[in-house]
Amino acid sequence: MTTTSKHGKKFLKLASRLGYVPSYIFAKLDAEKLKLSEKGIDVIDLSLGSPDLPSPEIVIKACEKALQDPTNYRYPPFWGQNKFKHAAANWMKKRFSVELDPESEIFPLAGSKEGIAHLALALIDPGDVSIVPTPCYPAHSRGTLLAGGSVYELPLLEKNNYLPDLDSIPQDILDKAKMFFISYPNNPTGATCGIELFEKLVHICTKNEILLISDLAYSELTFDGHVAPSIFQVKGAKDIAIEFHSFSKTYSMAGWRIAFVAGNPDIIKAMYEMKTHIDYGVCNITQAASINAFDIPLSEHEKTRTIYKERRDVVVDGLKELGWNIKKPLGAMYIWFPVPKQYKTSFEFCSTLLEKAHVATIPGGSFGTYGEGYIRIALVDNKDRLKTAIQRMKQIGIYYK
Ligand SMILES: Cc1ncc(COP(=O)(O)O)c(C=O)c1O
Repeated sequence: MTTTSKHGKKFLKLASRLGYVPSYIFAKLDAEKLKLSEKGIDVIDLSLGSPDLPSPEIVIKACEKALQDPTNYRYPPFWGQNKFKHAAANWMKKRFSVELDPESEIFPLAGSKEGIAHLALALIDPGDVSIVPTPCYPAHSRGTLLAGGSVYELPLLEKNNYLPDLDSIPQDILDKAKMFFISYPNNPTGATCGIELFEKLVHICTKNEILLISDLAYSELTFDGHVAPSIFQVKGAKDIAIEFHSFSKTYSMAGWRIAFVAGNPDIIKAMYEMKTHIDYGVCNITQAASINAFDIPLSEHEKTRTIYKERRDVVVDGLKELGWNIKKPLGAMYIWFPVPKQYKTSFEFCSTLLEKAHVATIPGGSFGTYGEGYIRIALVDNKDRLKTAIQRMKQIGIYYK
């Protein structure tokens, strides 16, 4: 049965799956940002986590070379370039001391986000359940929802340092759940976890036959001595887990669109199957160039960490002057803080910041139910601009009481 739209054309009746996911919050703020910019107003945009730092020189040079090689002009291999897969497996060994088979346990992706959505399409049927701790990176829940499944939101609360209370998950949810997402260092909270959480998760997911998905987009962005673990450092994890690694934040390559997924070979094969119907894999030139990033010594990341750490300190110290007393996050590139009581919603507070202080942020509600009441600042501009953002908040009388 088809119904026609109010414009009378049946093709304008969009698939119902688009109605399963919210989109309006971003759209509204984006429209507002655009209006201000068109008026010539200088908006300090701290909304998206899109790194402003340059991509590595070695990758850019390799890209120029790869562009001259006509073999790269043809379709990429569906399974990804062998060289890339071997280099990724070597990096996993160098960084986490874990062994992965490059042929069957590594798969290049045009971004973790795309990979997460394709994973859900490959695994989730209507009626299936995914466990997603929230606030979360929205793709963790959106993939499941678009595939017609439902999401059990597990709260990440400030009083628990934004770590999940695994014992609180009802057994019937564990019985039904097919996927369990976990992501530390965490977007949006900046929280980090130790290997003990991963051990407990591997135990629960093994016992209940749930696929554990670790999203390690911020593995190299940690501060004050914290070192992020990989799920594969837990014995037996490969039986039930996969892990997403992205170039977007580690190498400031968000626009190049490259990532990889590692782990359980059956799941990787399922993702491959799904993707053969949808895309042609990652651009040959991007793969050939980004291989070089794996050779960058791990110690080099310290430079990037120092930049984000200094930005973190500017914002947390600045917010302190305005009445917020928040702990300095040990990971990722965000500051997550509560909305002053006089605002009814995180959206209302963000709109005020945008309209009056010309500072763009993201309302916590867009990261899931347990994100409401907070907002997120992304550390994607330099220290002076971040200081100016705080100054602008002060000038319009924003305080946390
Ligand atoms: C936790 C997390 N995973 C994945 C992504 C997106 O990664 P990619 O650029 O590889 O799609 C983000 C982006 O902000 C993120 O915060």
